[in-house]
Amino acid sequence: MSHVVVNRLSHTFTSRKEKLEVLDELSFEVFPTEVVTILGPSGCGKSTLLRCLAGLLVPSEGTIEIDGQSPDILRQKKELGFGFQEPSLMDWRTVEDNISLPAELGIQDGALSELKLRIDDMLNLIRMTNFRRHYPPQLSAGMKHRTALARALILEPKILLLDEPLAGLDLLTRRELMGQITTLLERQKCTTVIVTHSVEEAVFWGDRVILLTHRPASIVQIIEHHGQRPRKLAYAESMEFHHLVDRCSDLILGLSKSNHE
Ligand SMILES: Nc1ncnc2c1ncn2[C@@H]1O[C@H](COP(=O)(O)OP(=O)(O)OP(=O)(O)O)[C@@H](O)[C@H]1O
Ligand SMILES: [Mg+2]
Repeated sequence: MSHVVVNRLSHTFTSRKEKLEVLDELSFEVFPTEVVTILGPSGCGKSTLLRCLAGLLVPSEGTIEIDGQSPDILRQKKELGFGFQEPSLMDWRTVEDNISLPAELGIQDGALSELKLRIDDMLNLIRMTNFRRHYPPQLSAGMKHRTALARALILEPKILLLDEPLAGLDLLTRRELMGQITTLLERQKCTTVIVTHSVEEAVFWGDRVILLTHRPASIVQIIEHHGQRPRKLAYAESMEFHHLVDRCSDLILGLSKSNHE
C-alpha cells in the first residue's frame, strides 16, 4: 500500500489578469493504509490539493511522491482511485457500466469474467444490485455518490482520493453512506485521503485530520486520532468522538475569528 510524501507544496493559478495563491508550502505524509482527512473552509484549496495528489494538476512548487514516484505515474498504472466532488457519471451508461468504466480500457478477454464478479461484489456492497441497469438520471443523489465511489474502487487502487464524498446529502443518507464508506475502507485497506467540510466526517474517518487555513491554505494543525478501528457508526456517539469534534470545531472557529480581525 502506498506511502505519500508531500514536501513544501505550493500552487498559484495564473491568468493574464491575476495570480491567485491557493496552496502555501504544505508538507505532510500519509502512511500506508492510513486514512487522512483534510478539513478547511470553502475555497481554501482542498480540491486543488487533491487534484495535485491525483496528478491532474502540476503544482507550481514543491513535490509529491507516492512510493517514490510522481502521482501521474500511479494514475497511468491505474493504481490511484479518484472520487470527484461531483459524482460526474455518464448519463448514457448504466450504473454497472459506469462502475466498470475505469477497468474497461485495455482489459484482456480472460479478465472480463473476473471484472464482472468484482462489479457484482461492488454493487452488493453499495446496496445497488437492484439498480444495476438504471441510468444516472433515474438515481437519487445518494445513489449517484455510491456509484461514483464504486467506480473509484473498482480497480482496487493502492491509493484512494475522495473529494467531499457526502456533499449535498441529507443527514440520514449521510449517516448510511458514512457507514458504507467505512466498510469499504476497512476492506480495501488502501491509503486514503478524504476532503470534507464536515468536522464529524473528518474525525469519524481520519486516523489524522489535517486542518487548513483560509486561502492560501497552509496547515494549522495535524490532529492525531487514536480512536478504535474499525469504526462503527456507534463510535459517533462516544465521548471521545465528541471531544475531538469539539477540538477541531474550536480550531476552525478560531480561524474565522483571526480572518475577521
Ligand atoms: N482551474 C482554476 N483556475 C483558476 N482558479 C481556480 C481553478 N480551480 C480553482 N481555482 C480557485 O482556487 C481556489 C480554491 O479552489 P478549490 O476548489 O481548491 O477550493 P475548495 O477548498 O475545494 O472549496 P470547496 O470547499 O468550496 O469545494 C478558489 O478561489 C477557486 O476559485
Ligand atoms: Mg472543493
